[in-house]
Amino acid sequence: MLAPMQGLTNRAVRDYFIKTVQPDTLFTEFMQVNAAAEKRRLTPVDRRDIASGSGEFPVVVQLVGHGREPLVAAAIEAQELGARHINLNMGCPYGRMTSGLTGGGMLKRPELLPDIIGPLRDAVKCSFSIKIRAGYDDPQQILSLLPLFESAGVDFIALHPRTVVQEYKGVADHSVTAEVVRNCKMPIIANGDIRTAEDAERVLKETGATGLMLGRGAIADPLLFARIRGKAEKSPSVETMVSEASSYLLAISERYREIFCGDMQVLGKLKAIVSQMDEDVLVRIIKELKRAKSLAAFEAALSR
Ligand SMILES: Cc1cc2nc3c(=O)[nH]c(=O)nc-3n(C[C@H](O)[C@H](O)[C@H](O)COP(=O)(O)O)c2cc1C
Repeated sequence: MLAPMQGLTNRAVRDYFIKTVQPDTLFTEFMQVNAAAEKRRLTPVDRRDIASGSGEFPVVVQLVGHGREPLVAAAIEAQELGARHINLNMGCPYGRMTSGLTGGGMLKRPELLPDIIGPLRDAVKCSFSIKIRAGYDDPQQILSLLPLFESAGVDFIALHPRTVVQEYKGVADHSVTAEVVRNCKMPIIANGDIRTAEDAERVLKETGATGLMLGRGAIADPLLFARIRGKAEKSPSVETMVSEASSYLLAISERYREIFCGDMQVLGKLKAIVSQMDEDVLVRIIKELKRAKSLAAFEAALSR
C-alpha cells in the first residue's frame, strides 16, 4: 500500500503510481474534518480529490478529526462522493492534531474511543481501516485497543510502531508489530522505515504482517514497489537511479501543471518530493533541485 502523506499523495501523485507501479491500495492525504461546519465537513479541494477517482482504482479516503458526529458526517460525505474505503487517522503526531483529540491525540483519551469507532464503523458501508501509532507515549498501548477495533468490525489496521510523542525519532520497532499480529485476528499492515526490498522482506518475515505500507521510501523511489515484488533491480547503478528519478519527477511535474496554479506552486510541490530523497548517490542532483529558483531551472537540471 502507498501510505497517506499530506502534501504528497495528492491525485496527481496517486495517478503516477497507478500508471507505473500499481500499489494494491493508495491512500489520499489526510482530509481534515471540519467539526464546526454546518453542512459540508470536507473542504472543496478534498471533495474534488475524492470525486476525481476513476472508478478503476478505488479511492481510499483518510479522515482526520475528532468527535463522533463530525467524523460520521464526513465519512458519509466521502462515500457519497465515491470513496470506496475509509481510513481513520489515529497517528498524526503534530501540532493541533495532538493538542486536541485528533490524529495521534485520540490515543490520549482511549476511554472516548468506543463512542467514536463503533458509530463510525456503522456509518461506513464500504470497508474501514485504522492507521495508528503504537501508542501515545506507551508503545504497548495498541495491545489494549485491539479488542475494541476487533469487536467494532475494523477491516484492517495499518500500524506505524513508533509512539506519538516519539514523532519520527528513533526507529520503527517492528517487534511491536509482531506482537500485535500475534494478538489479533484482523489483518495488520506493517508501516515504518521500509526503504529497501531487504527491509520489506525482513519486516514481513519478522512480523507475520499481512502486507506492507510504504511512505517516505516510496515517495523517494516509486520503483520500491517493483523492487519488493522482484520486478525491478534491487540495487540499480547510479546512472539508472538518476535517470529513474528524473523521469519520475518530470512525469509528476507534467501532472502538477494540470492541478496546481502557477509555476511557483508546482515547484514547491516538486521540492516536497525531492525533500524525501536521501540516497547518497543522488546527492548532487538533489542539491541542484533543492536550489532551483524556477520550474524551468528545476526541469533543466533533470534533463541534463
Ligand atoms: C511528509 C509526511 C506527511 C505525512 N502525512 C500523513 C497523512 O496525511 N496521514 C497519515 O496517516 N500519515 C501521514 N504520514 C505518516 C506516513 O503515512 C507514515 O506512517 C510514516 O511516514 C512512516 O512510514 P515510512 O517510514 O514508510 O515513511 C506522513 C509522513 C510524512 C513524512
